[in-house]
Parts: sequence; structure tokens; C-alpha cells
Amino acid sequence: MADAAPTGKVTFVGAGPGAADLLTFRAARAIADADVVIWAASLVQAEVLEHAREGAEILDSAVLSLEDVVAVYERAARDGLKVARIHSGDPALWGGTQEQFDRCVALGVETEIVPGVSSFSAVAAIAGRELTIPEVAQSVILTRLGGGKTPMPPGEEVREFARHGTTMALFLSAARSGQLVRELLEGGYPTTTPVVVAYQATWPEELVLSCTIETLEETVKEHRLWKHTLFLVGPALAAHGTRSHLYHPGHFHGFRKAAPEARAALRAEKPRS
Ligand SMILES: C[S@@+](CC[C@H](N)C(=O)[O-])C[C@H]1O[C@@H](n2cnc3c(N)ncnc32)[C@H](O)[C@@H]1O
Repeated sequence: MADAAPTGKVTFVGAGPGAADLLTFRAARAIADADVVIWAASLVQAEVLEHAREGAEILDSAVLSLEDVVAVYERAARDGLKVARIHSGDPALWGGTQEQFDRCVALGVETEIVPGVSSFSAVAAIAGRELTIPEVAQSVILTRLGGGKTPMPPGEEVREFARHGTTMALFLSAARSGQLVRELLEGGYPTTTPVVVAYQATWPEELVLSCTIETLEETVKEHRLWKHTLFLVGPALAAHGTRSHLYHPGHFHGFRKAAPEARAALRAEKPRS
């Protein structure tokens, strides 16, 4: 009986914010298994390629159009090649992955998406902050400023989201820091709201600064940040002194009994709105 034709596979690999040791094991395995690795030097560090096997074809996505990349996926389908397409952070966010994924599906080539550490979680870790703090912020809005090459859908302007007053992670917005400040204030954040500004987080050039909305624009301009920069904004970034119910001795769940006195004290607390 003739051997079955080799089947190709395209894996969209989330490679994290840059540092090679923030790859997941699954991501490293997908790169190691690949016949072709597509990556961008500006988005992830070169050590990521140390996982690639000797002889693997390495392509720089910076010089490739969507059509060029799809031609590689066609080759994968035809010749049974395994392709690892590396994306920065998590491929679910601003990666242009859906258009590629849909073309792979149309080509009939097997696909997989490997999630990655997004830059917003990497920056929160570097800043030593939890983004959801009891009674302060229980939501995180991931967004970007409108007005660049990609228009914002109606109702998704920063000023609209700012009305919630919760934690925001702002991607792709450093080049228009004046507009960013205006929209954050129009939405209702006080000028004193804490901000973390992170440039090239997890890279050797990393710069992570704390400021407020009032000083955001001057901070960005002083350090000439216009790309590879992420902002975390919101009161949670400076909040202390609250505690979660989850680890309160008066809280019980399937694996832990509540201490009766602590339970009574917890129940006597004013209900949270
Ligand atoms: C095209 S988006 C890709 C986002 C990526 N998928 C993620 O999950 O982080 C690029 C933007 O992500 C943010 N970003 C990505 N990596 C970063 C890093 N290492 N440091 C700071 N910001 C970063 C910046 O806002 C940058 O303009």
C-alpha cells in the first residue's frame, strides 16, 4: 500500500513579549518541529530561534506581505511541511492572525494556535501589580487608541472605555500620547490616576516607569517612546489595603472549611456593591 501523502500543519505560536524564556513548552516544541519558521527580529529575541532544528528554513515576516506568507502556507499544504508562524505576545491580540488562520482553513491545511504571554501581563508582573484588586477594579480593558492606520469601531474609543474607571491596558498608542491623555481625562479618570509606562518589556532595553495621567505625555516625550510601548492605567496600580474573600479564613469552598469566628466577621462586613 502506498504511503499516505504527508499532511502539512501551520502553528501560530505566541512567543511572549520578547524574552526567549517566556516561551511556553508548547511554543518551543512547535518551533522545534517546524520545517519553516516565520518570525520578526523586532518582535522576539533571536534566542527563540535556538529551538528551531538545524536546516529549518527561517523567514523574516518583516519583509513578507500576507500574500507571501500565504504562499508559504500553500507550500505547507502541498508538500506536507510544518510551519511555525511566530507572533509576539498572545496571537489573540493584534496579531493579524485571523486572516492567516482563515486562509489556512480555506487551503485545508491543519492549524493550531499556541497561546503566549501577552505584553500586558508581562508588564503587570514587572511592575509588581495585580490588575484586579478587590473593591477597586474587577475588570481589565485591553484596547488601543483610535486614529492610527486602523480606525476604531463606534463606541470603542478610549474615552468611552475610560468611563468605567477600571484598569486599562493600552497597546499601540504611544505615538499619540497627547490624544491618549485627553481621552482618558474626558472619560473621567482623575489626573492623579496611576500609570505604568513600559517600553520593550523583557528586552535588554526595557524601560518601565511609573507616572500619573497628568505626567504621562511628558514621560513619553522625555524618553522618546513611540513604539513597543504599553500603558497600564487605573487606580488598581496604586491600591493597597484590601483583601480578597478567596483567601479569607471566613470564606469556605470545596477544599477548605471556614473558621466559624472569621466566617461570622466576614458576614458582618458591609455588603460590597
Ligand atoms: C501588534 S501589538 C501585538 C500585541 C501582542 N499580541 C501581545 O499580546 O502583547 C504590538 C503592541 O503590543 C505592545 N507590546 C508588545 N510587546 C511589548 C513589549 N515587550 N513591551 C511593551 N509593549 C509591548 C505595544 O503596545 C506594541 O505597540
